[in-house]
Amino acid sequence: MPKRERRRVVAAEPVGPYTLLRVDRAGLKAGIPGQFFMLETPGRLLPRPMSVCLATPSELAFLIDPIGPGTRALCSVQTGAELAILGPLGNGFDLSVERPLLVGGGIGIAPFPYLSGTLGGPPAVLGFRSSWHAEAAALVPNAEVVIEPTYVTDAMPSGHDVLACGPEPMLDAVRKLAPRAQLAWEAPMACGYGACYGCAVEIDGELKRLCVEGPVLAAA
Ligand SMILES: Cc1cc2nc3c(=O)[nH]c(=O)nc-3n(C[C@H](O)[C@H](O)[C@H](O)COP(=O)(O)OP(=O)(O)OC[C@H]3O[C@@H](n4cnc5c(N)ncnc54)[C@H](O)[C@@H]3O)c2cc1C
Ligand code: FES
Repeated sequence: MPKRERRRVVAAEPVGPYTLLRVDRAGLKAGIPGQFFMLETPGRLLPRPMSVCLATPSELAFLIDPIGPGTRALCSVQTGAELAILGPLGNGFDLSVERPLLVGGGIGIAPFPYLSGTLGGPPAVLGFRSSWHAEAAALVPNAEVVIEPTYVTDAMPSGHDVLACGPEPMLDAVRKLAPRAQLAWEAPMACGYGACYGCAVEIDGELKRLCVEGPVLAAA
């Protein structure tokens, strides 16, 4: 069982509209790309799930989109503050793929810097709603960037093992084109380790607790 640990915030840096929250790693396991941590969120009762974005020997980093009160509070954390973090949690991507292609949309690119580094910099197709949001693509090597109204599915080459993360409509479109893709799904989470059933979602008629059976699931 992963342990809840308190870690110091090393920096909170803007990346386009997002914030890269870097925390002191101090012996924490980063896990497999696609796994996530529950981050204590100042002023909120429940922690928030965040994918591991970058893992260096001394730091873990999380790329955060300030879409609500919890994420806004996390983006405003001051350097030197301490946060309780729990992880790594869930199932990450299966890395035994021959021709990986990373396909991401918006904040869905968050796990890709770590994933790309682990897979040796495979090609990536990343979609954003504006060039400001697309500044985050600089974190992912070897990426082709598309901006709306062009979608990632317009630019996806065939013949690859697709690993995808992004909003639900994007994942639905990706799996129509790549039925064997690995897809990282999202649901609001309260505990992150299977106890509350708050993250249960119905996928193809089956209920799945995304925090333990996911967040990465096979498309088929
Ligand atoms: C496994 C996992 C990994 C994640 N990784 C990242 C990451 O790396 N970076 C990042 O910025 N965000 C990530 N998220 C999403 C992030 O956890 C939510 O945006 C955050 O919890 C919202 O909290 P809030 O208080 O800011 O907004 P809230 O007020 O809680 O939510 C704002 C709106 O978003 C909806 N919402 C909240 N959480 C989710 C969710 N998980 N899925 C779909 N809709 C949601 C709410 O219903 C509401 O409409 C991840 C989620 C999961 C499940
Ligand atoms: S978040 Fe509690 S069971 Fe998944």
